[in-house]
Amino acid sequence: MRRRLARALVRPLVLAAAAATTPLASASPAVADSIVVGGFPVDVSQSPWTVALSSRDLFGGTRAGQFCGGVAVGPSTVLTAAHCMDESVLGAKPTQIRDLRVIAGRSELLSDKGREIPVSSVWVNPGYDGVGNSGDFAVLTLAEKLPSGSVIGMARGGDPAYRAYTPATVYGWGDTTGGGSYAGSLHAARVHVLPDALCEKAYPGGVSGSYHAGTMLCAGEEKGGRDACQGDSGGPLVAQGRLIGLVSWGSGCGWAGSPGVYTRISDVLRTLGWG
Ligand code: ARG
Repeated sequence: MRRRLARALVRPLVLAAAAATTPLASASPAVADSIVVGGFPVDVSQSPWTVALSSRDLFGGTRAGQFCGGVAVGPSTVLTAAHCMDESVLGAKPTQIRDLRVIAGRSELLSDKGREIPVSSVWVNPGYDGVGNSGDFAVLTLAEKLPSGSVIGMARGGDPAYRAYTPATVYGWGDTTGGGSYAGSLHAARVHVLPDALCEKAYPGGVSGSYHAGTMLCAGEEKGGRDACQGDSGGPLVAQGRLIGLVSWGSGCGWAGSPGVYTRISDVLRTLGWG
């Protein structure tokens, strides 16, 4: 069923890409190195607003307690996914995690570079729908300020960065294969914002949730291959130097016809009254 769906989606995407100003195929250099999925290793200094969420009490071990990503949008304000703060993911309420920290300035999780900053409060979007996945964001307030320059601006509604086929980059410490392999170092993958109509076709509802253009955006590549994956949730999708999305969900990782779905930042701004 899913395979057939995937194949059916490839053709419209190719046609759409041909008509776009930034064709998917030619805009995507073949990156054959380590594979976030289909990506490449990146130093956090190139995206200093990308942070890791960690709790050694809950997730100690090889991933150094990292369980989600986040993005600094203010000196002591980090956005992440609401589902990262969900009891079903954490095994506890966020307020019960005494060692919830944001790790900034550290590419290799097992190194001691950068800083581990305690989270002083967690605000989960009350409109988050854990079944349909809409409104998937939470705001963390840090106990200490981040170094200046480690904050990214957010794209408001109508920003050209949201246009279909805009090149975008997603960052995270998540699974690099879709098979549960964690490199322990920050990776990035180059993807493209995809048209809402295509996202709606990919996720009409059912298996893994349905796509809602008002609150979500989707991004990926025509042939799949490049995507966020488990462990990247809450991390940033950046286009034209501005934050446009937070890693939220998807069917598999990097599958053709199943693009990654992101929380739409313009909707976060609207909900928070920041826009
Ligand atoms: N829900 C996942 C997480 O908690 C993120 C999945 C993103 N999947 C994707 N194919 N883009 O880390």
